[in-house]
Amino acid sequence: MSTWLVTGAAGFIGANFVRLASASVEARLVVLDALTYAGNLENIADLVEAGKIEFHRGDICDIDLVNELFGRHRFDRVVHFAAESHVDRSILGAEPFIRTNIQGTAVLLAAARASWQDRQGKPLFLHVSTDEVFGSLEPDDPPFTENSPYRPNSPYSASKAAADHLVRAWHHTYGLPTIISNCSNNYGPWQFPEKLIPLMILNAFDGRELPVYGDGRQVRDWLHVEDHCRALLAILAGGQAGRTYVVGGACERTNLDIVQRIALEADALLRRSPGSAAKLIRHVADRPGHDRRYAMNAMALQRELGWRPRHDLESALPAVVRWYWENRAWADRIRSGTYVEYYEQQYGARA
Ligand code: NAD
Ligand code: DAU
Repeated sequence: MSTWLVTGAAGFIGANFVRLASASVEARLVVLDALTYAGNLENIADLVEAGKIEFHRGDICDIDLVNELFGRHRFDRVVHFAAESHVDRSILGAEPFIRTNIQGTAVLLAAARASWQDRQGKPLFLHVSTDEVFGSLEPDDPPFTENSPYRPNSPYSASKAAADHLVRAWHHTYGLPTIISNCSNNYGPWQFPEKLIPLMILNAFDGRELPVYGDGRQVRDWLHVEDHCRALLAILAGGQAGRTYVVGGACERTNLDIVQRIALEADALLRRSPGSAAKLIRHVADRPGHDRRYAMNAMALQRELGWRPRHDLESALPAVVRWYWENRAWADRIRSGTYVEYYEQQYGARA
């Protein structure tokens, strides 16, 4: 049986990934997560308790710990999610992004290289990255592809781009078997409530303002997190070392459209009159350097590895809204912690 190191699996996408992988792949899953503000052991506690994954609390920048884990487990796969992931936080302070996203990735690459030097078989390092490294599209531009140039605009996307370049260089120079996946915006269960969709859902439930940045006409390409995780499993099974794969939902929506949909779903779920939650929409100061539009062309992944998204936003979003309603206690526990301070700084109001 192969052994996989999954970094950052107490976060949103990593938690969904280990849930799917533990149910569908014959592999021993070892998780390394520092449990930052965004990491929540509750997201994967049932898997840890059932012995389906082995959990280590630790920092990917800790060279000794990372080397020790590689020595002990001789990993066949690394699936690297761990990152500082929120653009607004990167604007408030870039240092943790530079440290975790760049230095942490460098530590993992060095450990994999040392561990895999005399390695038989086909180990693989999958670096989970973002569409934001390609910058912003104009309204009529074609979607990003594997050949799009890097033009990161925020401290977050610049730190992810730097990490992508390290991953690419470790393949080119040392022959380390690496793959980079660049995915668009994910939505689904267990997403930290600082991100657009869970933030708007929870605020709509609570009758709080729905803070839309600027004119709200920025466009994102939405993909259900389970579809992203299935794409990663397909890449791990059949992807080619040295390659990049673009992942996306071909589902471009303006932020305002997303918020209006959420408002209507919340009204329906709470049996309020349609339009009640939409009255909570407030246009607030725009995000500095805000990227206007992202869109991904995932045709290469579809053609070569047979992956297709199974969820469409129109039918999946109501189920996601319901998930946050049924898991309000999970969200309340997060929102009563240090998140309160961030919310005050970002929105000038209490979480
Ligand atoms: P998240 O913020 O929800 O989770 C990040 C996880 O990494 C947390 O569990 C956190 O504790 C852990 N972590 C942070 N710093 C660490 C460190 N130094 N050492 C060990 N663990 C650490 O993020 P997410 O939304 O699940 O994103 C996961 C990955 O996918 C990121 O690399 C992100 O750039 C990428 N990505 C996210 C999206 C999206 O829409 N959320 C889209 C494309 C790509
Ligand atoms: O595109 C992939 C990226 O998607 C990932 O790499 C990032 O980790 C992830 O955080 C996400 O980045 P975005 O900046 O696109 O996501 P966010 O949920 O922060 O914002 C989505 C859009 O909604 C963006 O245009 C900003 C806007 N927004 C966001 C918040 C939190 C608002 O209008 N109001 C808000 O309160």
